[in-house]
Amino acid sequence: MIGLWRPLGVAWCLTWALGASSAGADSIFAPTLAATCTTCHGPAGRSSGGIPALAGVPKARLVAAVMEMTEGRAKDSLMPALLRGYSPEEIDAALTWFAAQEAEAPLP
Ligand code: HEC
Repeated sequence: MIGLWRPLGVAWCLTWALGASSAGADSIFAPTLAATCTTCHGPAGRSSGGIPALAGVPKARLVAAVMEMTEGRAKDSLMPALLRGYSPEEIDAALTWFAAQEAEAPLP
């Protein structure tokens, strides 16, 4: 699914070819997108409050939770409405990124 974003990413990179970053489109895209979730789900998805943590949770479980929420099967508050603002590709990229994060933050 993320392949759909590659042509877009390439165009973006060409447009900004003289920009500071030389990282691949995917590596820019997913963390930027996931940052829109971390306000509530904690830094890198490591929540310390009542909102579920996403960091290090197997992707299949995150996908199942998102499907429950988007299909209205879970008694959720704001996530179903919030998820409507994202494309399936964006959700997929964000969940892939969160699943790959360390569940525990290293000690400072
Ligand atoms: C405004 C705060 C807020 C934002 C922003 C937010 N979430 Fe959530 N999320 C919640 C809350 C609260 C829950 C718990 C269920 C509920 O009450 O809706 C939740 C639940 C979830 C769950 C289910 C976790 C589980 O174990 O049941 C997933 C997956 C999830 N969010 C993913 C995301 C992703 C991906 C984004 C960014 C695209 C995001 N959330 C942005 C507040 C937020």
